[in-house]
Formats: sequence, structure tokens, C-alpha cells
Amino acid sequence: MDKLSIEGPVSLQGTIRAGGAKNAALPALAACLLTESRIELTDVPDVRDIRTMLSLLDHLGVDSERSETSLLLQANRDPTAEDAPYDLVKTMRASVLALGPLLARRGHARVSLPGGCAIGVRPIDQHLAGLEALGARVRLEHGYVDARSDRLRGGLFRFSMPSVTGTENLLMAASLALGTTVLENCAREPEIIDLAELLNKMGAQIQGAGEERIEIQGVETLSGATHGIIADRIEAGTYLIGAAITRGDVCIENARPRDLSALLEKLTETGCQIDIDENGLRLRGTGELVSKDVVTAPHPGFPTDLQAQYMALMTQAHGNATVCETVFENRFQHVPELNRMGASIEIDGSFARIHGPSRLSGARVMATDLRASASLVLAGLAAEGTTVVDRIYHLDRGYEAMESKLQALGARVQRISGA
Ligand code: EPZ
Repeated sequence: MDKLSIEGPVSLQGTIRAGGAKNAALPALAACLLTESRIELTDVPDVRDIRTMLSLLDHLGVDSERSETSLLLQANRDPTAEDAPYDLVKTMRASVLALGPLLARRGHARVSLPGGCAIGVRPIDQHLAGLEALGARVRLEHGYVDARSDRLRGGLFRFSMPSVTGTENLLMAASLALGTTVLENCAREPEIIDLAELLNKMGAQIQGAGEERIEIQGVETLSGATHGIIADRIEAGTYLIGAAITRGDVCIENARPRDLSALLEKLTETGCQIDIDENGLRLRGTGELVSKDVVTAPHPGFPTDLQAQYMALMTQAHGNATVCETVFENRFQHVPELNRMGASIEIDGSFARIHGPSRLSGARVMATDLRASASLVLAGLAAEGTTVVDRIYHLDRGYEAMESKLQALGARVQRISGA
């Protein structure tokens, strides 16, 4: 398994470009199942989760072709394929995004139930209840969701809690339903707005994406489209925190400040200087860092996908900070590893208390999930000596070319393959 070796401390300096968002590209890829026409997507990141989704789509009869500038997709090979097998779904929960489009377009979908996950139980009950509200017959058997409907029909569904992929699945399903669907208590993440933009380009009639209430007027068929995937706010946020934790000066081109308002506000409070211009974002972390509490929440709240990285930052801030994780019940697995590097963090249920500043020293640490691995890399950049992060296949799921981007910012990082 590959590892990442990091020499610290370093001060990150320079400019990088934020790539396309993994969590916007995944539903956009699934949307190609809604039509036989060609979909062209630009800025699709080359990360492992995208490759997994492309394997699933291939299994479902979708041809895909990547060029320098874009990814072409066409679901015209085998319109009868209807199942998303366990072997693919177990490696990536987002495979569940095939459920809504398959059911809406082909009248039947058999998708392996995603099992447990390192960060929480993560059930999909809201996805299934939503599809039932559109008239689907849903059964769970042999570890699979089996959903059937001659034709979905418009209806009203209120989520018990805002669910990102739940909202995306129902948006795609309702786009081909008979009549009008109203979704309430929806998730409002920018990736949902991006998906709705693509679907509307394909001929869907969606209003209110990004709001709590979304209305979808179903249509008979959807056509092809060309669409650029939005910038990855979590990737951009990770490098901004990298600049702050190393007291550096970094520009992130292509980043969208409005998608990062909760983070930018918090980083300003901690003492970082942030400048916004037409090209993107610049963070200068030259001053003393001050501890500030944070509570994660669905968008536009502080993103749970930046919680671990922010916690690493708070190990270098003056004072005591409390981080409260409200979205997932088991998302503190980076804490013992940060403490092994010399941090002082206590966990009390969904609260973590960080006492800073701590003098971090390089160590061998283990990645447990995608964002936890990013926080260990950031801590390694601030630590004295060598940090080796093991199991970076977690990192490769969602960060494109992290080594070369960090090297471009002056970091001394190296991938150790298959050690
Ligand atoms: C999306 O996951 C993201 N993944 C996650 O990013 C992100 O952490 C999460 O949203 C929250 O922002 C993708 O977009 C592919 P949810 P998702 O449904 O949709 C509960 C990363 O690091 N819930 O919004 O699976 C659930 O257990 C990943 O890139 C139910 O109980 O998250 C959680 O506590 C990790 N029943 C909460 O809602 C349901 O049917 C929010 O989950 C659905 C969700």
C-alpha cells in the first residue's frame, strides 16, 4: 500500500488551481443514465472514486471516453442492465446515485445496499422513502435494494434530515416522473445546484435547487448536454487550511468564495488574512493563530468534510477550541493519530477539545478515511521531522495529484509506492 512521506516544517507559498469537485462529478456521471444521448463533462477530477463510478457505469452499458479536455459519456450499449453489484458499491457508497436514474429511465433498479462506513452508519432510508413517495415499489433482499415502477409519478416528499445524495437521487428520478414533484427539507450544497444545472441543460424542469424546497416538473425524455463541473470547495478548503497551518501565502485559482463562506469566515476569525479576486482566493497566514470553536452543519454551515483539516489547524492555535461534529457520528478517527504527533485533543461524544499550540513532531500515522488522511498530511507539513502517512488510498479517492500540488507550493512530500 502506498504511503506519503512529508518533511516538516514548511511554509506553503505559491499558486495552485482547484480541480473539479468529486462530489459534483459523481452525480453528474450518474445522470448520463437518464438519456441515450451523449453527455460531455469538463473538469472531472481524475480520482479513484470517479474511476469506480466509471466502472459501474460501464457495467450498466455506458461508454465513456476521456480526452485532454473532457469526458464523453453515452448510455446506449445495454439498456437492459439494471444492477449495481456489491463488489463496486462496497468500495464507494456514492454508487447509490445510480438508483434514481436507473429506476426513472429503465423502470427497475437493483442496487447493492452500501454497507457501514468508517465515519458513520450512513443509512439510505430517505432515498428509499423518497422513491416510494414517487410510486416506486421498493424491496430489500439479499443485501440489495430492488426498486420497480412502470413510470414514476410526481409527489410530495419531506426529508427527515437534509441528505446530499438523497436530494440528488430524487432530483434525477423526479426529472422523468409523470407530473410535478415537490421536495422539502432538501440539502442545499453547491454540488446539488450544479447537478440541477446539468439536468436543466438536458431538458429537465427543476426550480429551487440550493433551497430547502425544490420543485420538479417531470418530462417525457431528456437529451444530451455539455457541462463544466464546479470547482472542488473541499479540495480548495484543504489547501487554504494548509496555508494557514504552515503560516504560508497561497493562492487558489478557480476556487469559488461563495461556496466556502463558512470556512473563510472562520479562518478570518482565527487571524488569517484572506483576499478574494476574480481569479480565486489568497490566504496569508503570517500572524498568530487564535483558537476558535466550530460546529459542523449541512450547507451553508461549516462543512463536515473540512472538520478534520480544521482540527489539525487548531492544534497550532493559541487557546482551547471545541469542534462539534453534528453530521456524522464517528468522524474523529484522526484524533488519536494527531495526538501521536504531539497534539493535545480530548474527545467527549460529538465534541473534541483541542488545546494549543502544540509542538508537533513527525511520526508514522495511519489514514482511516478520505478527509482524516488530509488532516494528517496537513499536520505533517507543520511538524518537526518526517511524517509517513500510511494507507493513502483513502487520499487518492478524492484528491487529484496532491503530491505535485504540495510540491508546487514548496512542500517536501514523496509517495512511497507499495511499501
Ligand atoms: C455527501 O454524503 C458527501 N458525499 C459526503 O462527502 C459528505 O460528507 C456528506 O454529503 C455531508 O456533507 C458525496 O456527495 C458523494 P448525507 P451523503 O446523506 O450524501 C444521514 C467526502 O469526504 N442520512 O447528506 O452520503 C447520514 O447518516 C464525503 O467527500 C440518513 O440517516 O451524506 C448523515 O448522518 C464523505 N438517512 C446525514 O444524514 C439517509 O437516507 C447526512 O448524510 C441519508 C442520510
